Amino acid sequence: MIITGSRKGIGRFLAEYYLEKGITVIGCSRSESDLKHEHYEHYCLDVSDEKAVQKLVRETVKKHRKIDYLINNAGIASMNHSFLTPLSIVEKMFKTNVFGTFLFTREAGKVMSKNKFGRIVNMTTFAVPFKLEGEAVYAASKAAVTVMAEALAREYAIYGITVNTVAPPAVQTDLIAHVKKEKMDKLLQRQAIHRFGEAKDVANTIDFFLRDESALVTGQTVYLGGV
Ligand SMILES: NC(=O)c1ccc[n+]([C@@H]2O[C@H](COP(=O)([O-])OP(=O)(O)OC[C@H]3O[C@@H](n4cnc5c(N)ncnc54)[C@H](OP(=O)(O)O)[C@@H]3O)[C@@H](O)[C@H]2O)c1
Repeated sequence: MIITGSRKGIGRFLAEYYLEKGITVIGCSRSESDLKHEHYEHYCLDVSDEKAVQKLVRETVKKHRKIDYLINNAGIASMNHSFLTPLSIVEKMFKTNVFGTFLFTREAGKVMSKNKFGRIVNMTTFAVPFKLEGEAVYAASKAAVTVMAEALAREYAIYGITVNTVAPPAVQTDLIAHVKKEKMDKLLQRQAIHRFGEAKDVANTIDFFLRDESALVTGQTVYLGGV
């Protein structure tokens, strides 16, 4: 399994969770990881670096022969009014959230296609259906991720590869640490279930997508919390 953005937050939880299940996990992020496990390897890379992504996939196949699962988890957010958002931030968000997801999906997809099996899971956000003010660029980048998964589900179906997306509600990680409590409380009230999500809620949804029995489940987005 490849998990992007596995150094901290939801990705870190997922790496430990799937290692616990006996799955070999190849993780990556821009910084070193302190996760030590005999079946875990960490690559320091930016997910938008095409050559680095290709190298990770090439070396993974050489060593482990195949890739069964890809979790496109790496993501960044910048929450600000558009008047205060420089283009450099827009570029960074699209590079990480969209280009990174595309590159890993394309490279892992090629490997999975040879094996006629694969499960790809992307991460989107409630900011898309809520169309959150102050998160226009983040939401736009995640909307792109969602639509890309829907289209790739069609492209990859003949190879036995499914492509799905999970949208966690707010999960208390560094990503949202600076959002004011007042704003967060309002957001939680807009969900059917007024509580924060936890990484294990995300893992539960991913488990469903990964199952052999979920071969017919593709091009879907699951919004947790009743968004
Ligand atoms: N937390 C929430 O409320 C929430 C809600 C909805 C959706 N999500 C989505 O869930 C995913 C995980 O978010 P999180 O809350 O766990 O965030 P987080 O705690 O900030 O972790 C983000 C992870 O991605 C890595 N990363 C960031 N940019 C990268 C890049 N360019 N290349 C490689 N790795 C990169 C980070 O490691 P390095 O710093 O070492 O690169 C880190 O491991 C994201 O896609 C996010 O949009 C989160």
